[in-house]
Amino acid sequence: MKKIIIAIDGYSSCGKSTLARQLADALNYTYLDSGAMYRAVTYYFLEHKIALEDAESINRVLQQIEIRFSPQEEGGHTLLNGEDIESEIRKMYVANWVSPVAAISAVRRAMVAQQQAMGKDKGIVMDGRDIGTVVFPDAELKIFLTADPEIRAQRRYKELLAKGLTPSIEQVRNNLQERDRIDSTRTDSPLRRASDAVILDNSNLNPIEQFEMALALAKVRL
Ligand code: CDP
Repeated sequence: MKKIIIAIDGYSSCGKSTLARQLADALNYTYLDSGAMYRAVTYYFLEHKIALEDAESINRVLQQIEIRFSPQEEGGHTLLNGEDIESEIRKMYVANWVSPVAAISAVRRAMVAQQQAMGKDKGIVMDGRDIGTVVFPDAELKIFLTADPEIRAQRRYKELLAKGLTPSIEQVRNNLQERDRIDSTRTDSPLRRASDAVILDNSNLNPIEQFEMALALAKVRL
């Protein structure tokens, strides 16, 4: 059967990864979380005390960063140079720095090259901010997910509590607002809807309803 690329973009915490995983499972495709890659780079910069103004060090360390994902059956964890950093990159201290890091052009160039290589055989679902606009502008299906900001904050708050983390709802709300602001206003690859992306507002949809709508869109393209 013909294989396609599905690009899912949208604001912070609007359910992109849930939808991407559901579609990948249903179609037997690979799910790739591009946001995890920017989180992994952020974690590396923080661990190695790389200043965001230090272009020379950034260019040097970007050559030393390889990001992979463990197989879906093993959890699809984010691996940074072979080390499983999945739980660390979901923490607030990484979330607080990821948008400034992701606004750096050299970082984006390195990640986009890895993402395009991962998608060269198609049969993938990738979620992020610039997948339909920059990474795969020819993706057969582009979905732009949105949801009410307060609903997004509540969802992320619950998700973090379920992981045993203890942020306040204000910290989560502020982080989402600040990331959306930085992601939408940066010069390089700002978050925006591709002109040919289908808008899906999931504020009042449960995961099954959102999945069924998206799967129907995918089936048309197949
Ligand atoms: O899961 P959530 O929506 O909170 O965010 P994420 O997908 O893990 O992405 C974390 C951050 O990475 C975003 O806020 C962006 O700053 C950056 N990002 C990006 O710039 N481009 C992408 N394709 C994906 C993420």
